[in-house]
Amino acid sequence: PSVVLAYSGGLDTSVAIRWIKEKYDLDVIAVTIDVGNERNMQEIADRATQIGAIKSMIVDGREDFVRYFVWPALQAGAIYEGQYPLATALARPLIARLLVEVARQEGAVAVAHGCTGKGNDQVRFDVSINTLAPDLKIIAPVREWSMTRDNEIAYAAEHNMPIKVSNASPYSVDQNLWGRSIECGILEDPWAEPPADVFAWTSDPDTMDALEPKYYEISFQNGIPVALNGEEMPGYVLIETLNSEAGKYGIGRIDHIENRLVGIKSREIYEAPAAVVLHTAHSALESLTLSREQIRFKETIASEYARLIYNGQWYSALHQDLAAYVQSTQRFVSGTVRVKLSRGRCQIVGRKSDHSLYDHGLATYDSGDQFDHNAALGFIKLWALPLSTQAQAQLLPSIG
Ligand code: ARG
Ligand code: SIN
Repeated sequence: PSVVLAYSGGLDTSVAIRWIKEKYDLDVIAVTIDVGNERNMQEIADRATQIGAIKSMIVDGREDFVRYFVWPALQAGAIYEGQYPLATALARPLIARLLVEVARQEGAVAVAHGCTGKGNDQVRFDVSINTLAPDLKIIAPVREWSMTRDNEIAYAAEHNMPIKVSNASPYSVDQNLWGRSIECGILEDPWAEPPADVFAWTSDPDTMDALEPKYYEISFQNGIPVALNGEEMPGYVLIETLNSEAGKYGIGRIDHIENRLVGIKSREIYEAPAAVVLHTAHSALESLTLSREQIRFKETIASEYARLIYNGQWYSALHQDLAAYVQSTQRFVSGTVRVKLSRGRCQIVGRKSDHSLYDHGLATYDSGDQFDHNAALGFIKLWALPLSTQAQAQLLPSIG
């Protein structure tokens, strides 16, 4: 019998290959899933078999990730606690689904992942796997064993594992197209400013040489970015381009004291240049194409949607319902937004749409004004009516 392991190539999951074999006597099939992590996939897959996996596979999940996870989250405006664009959280249900698919193909009895027992990721994986394939056993070595990092290093050496353990990075990092998540080390002190070595995608806006601002035009079709400066490109290319371009301006650094599902607060640093630019641009286009009431109601949906993603409830009926609502809101969110990137800043400087609700004749203070100023008097009278009625009856002693 075999188990399908989500293999990242790092110390935890490398040690896990041997440990699972010893502890459970299962053959390990290592699957490395590319969600835009910028790693050498082939090298990682080869390492898995050198360590003892009976088979290793590489799955390119980038297009599915963008199409089914990133774009819907962008359309929804999903940002957890007003700060975190959810890169790590969005990739988990996709990885879970791919693990289950491979487990079915290979006739495996279990799946395995490298999450700890105190984070969100274990919840997202386990809940998704239980939902999609309740018969599969879940093995989470790092949660089950009691190895410290030192023990892991010793274990790897004992078993002659070909892995370079650099003590250089004191951080735990997860990254994909939509962002980079960094935790641990000095970052666990919420008073400590993140040192420079935390960041890999963004330049420090305060030390960069005088950098000329740069403009980009981002075109959306039904809330989905389809072109950059008029040039159509696949979603993941557009995201990669913005990550590198906005990263040069130090855009997308986020420092978040975050509420984990398991009840603890943790300090997380994120780098998400493309996510920040695209969310800003997308909401600018919505401000032009959605009504006041749609925008107001959508804010509630956005925060529910973000919470649901964060909390690992992707494969739920509630998600389907909210997603259907979000899709409906996007039917006129097509057009182009012009952004100006400068040191640490992404400013919206222009927006246009064939479905714009902005009416110059109604808005202008110049000649050509079509707004009925007299109608405002009647409107104000009725708008004030319930307030003045209640004030006379109840409130004058306290507000007068
Ligand atoms: N706290 C973030 C989240 O829950 C990031 C987690 C990063 N995961 C990791 N394995 N380093 O989505
Ligand atoms: C982990 O503990 O595995 C990473 C952090 C998290 O999942 O929140």
